[in-house]
Amino acid sequence: MKTIRDFNPKDKIILVRTDFNVPLKNGKVEDDFRIRASLPTIQYLLENGAKRIVLISHLGRPEGKMDLKFSLSPAADTLRKLLPEQKVAFYPLPKKDEDILNYSDCNIILLENLRFDPGEEVNSEDFIKQIIDAFVQDGFAVTHRAHASTDAIAKFLPTYAGLLVEKEIENLTKVLQNPTKPLLLIIGGAKVDDKQPLIEKFSSLADHIAVGGKIAADGYASKNPKIYVAEDFDENGAGEKLDIGPVSTTKIADFIKDAKTIIWNGLLGYAEDPAYATASTIVAELMGEKTDATTIVCGGDTTGFVQSLLEDHPNLQYSLISTGGGAALEFLLNPDLPGLKVIK
Ligand code: 3PG
Repeated sequence: MKTIRDFNPKDKIILVRTDFNVPLKNGKVEDDFRIRASLPTIQYLLENGAKRIVLISHLGRPEGKMDLKFSLSPAADTLRKLLPEQKVAFYPLPKKDEDILNYSDCNIILLENLRFDPGEEVNSEDFIKQIIDAFVQDGFAVTHRAHASTDAIAKFLPTYAGLLVEKEIENLTKVLQNPTKPLLLIIGGAKVDDKQPLIEKFSSLADHIAVGGKIAADGYASKNPKIYVAEDFDENGAGEKLDIGPVSTTKIADFIKDAKTIIWNGLLGYAEDPAYATASTIVAELMGEKTDATTIVCGGDTTGFVQSLLEDHPNLQYSLISTGGGAALEFLLNPDLPGLKVIK
């Protein structure tokens, strides 16, 4: 795959597809993880002389209509805070027009939500065609969609992977193709249908698969000796199993101690309530303390949980906290994602 290291961005106007699909609250970005994850690419391009970077993203699902509750304007405010040295402009339309040249004193321009235009989700070339020199895909979290800004665009612009896309792919590919063994997959969460394909795929790749969360509480069972399903639970007064118990947590901790590659997807209990976050906290801490293993956290709830743990425990380190919720899972099942194929 060609990355931004393979071309000279000097004096070029470059379109960068990011995934700023972030939660908003009271007109502000509530969690800036995905925006911070895009900074290495933006900084690399600017440090290497790019004339201007036009950032594009979607936010939410406004279904092709202008709906300002999905505006990306708060993301531009966050970018200004994160990059105080740069001149960041917000352009209130999802497509660049000639008047964008009026913003020539700004080196970063964030366009309004692409999904305000119906052309984005129907993968329209006419929508995305713009006078730009090169296209950088850095929105790993949306590369499982064949949309105008992930697929059609690559047909008429030289296309490169950004540093976030490169980092995500390098880590996830290593797990699939060349994992250091033993490989451990930890699965939690609530929806068994979402997780079953991953469990099946890793039945041959992994040395151990540990299953917790609501899936285990609801009685997930397997005859495969590689698959360990949590066997005890912490319950509330009404008898609801809301976290896996100490026996199961110790067993998973032992797998973690031996493993050299660990992927974790899905919380092990109802971790929104700190009383039932014990197992998830122990797993997050043990993984983050490991220095002899590749450690990957993926899935929106799990990465959000780890991000908040990091606020109090900045010493914890992971090889990858994936920005891709659905994209990371789809990549692990089949790495041929439409938004990545076009970069190759
Ligand atoms: C995500 O948050 O998973 C991506 O931004 C994709 O969003 P979508 O599921 O609305 O396409």
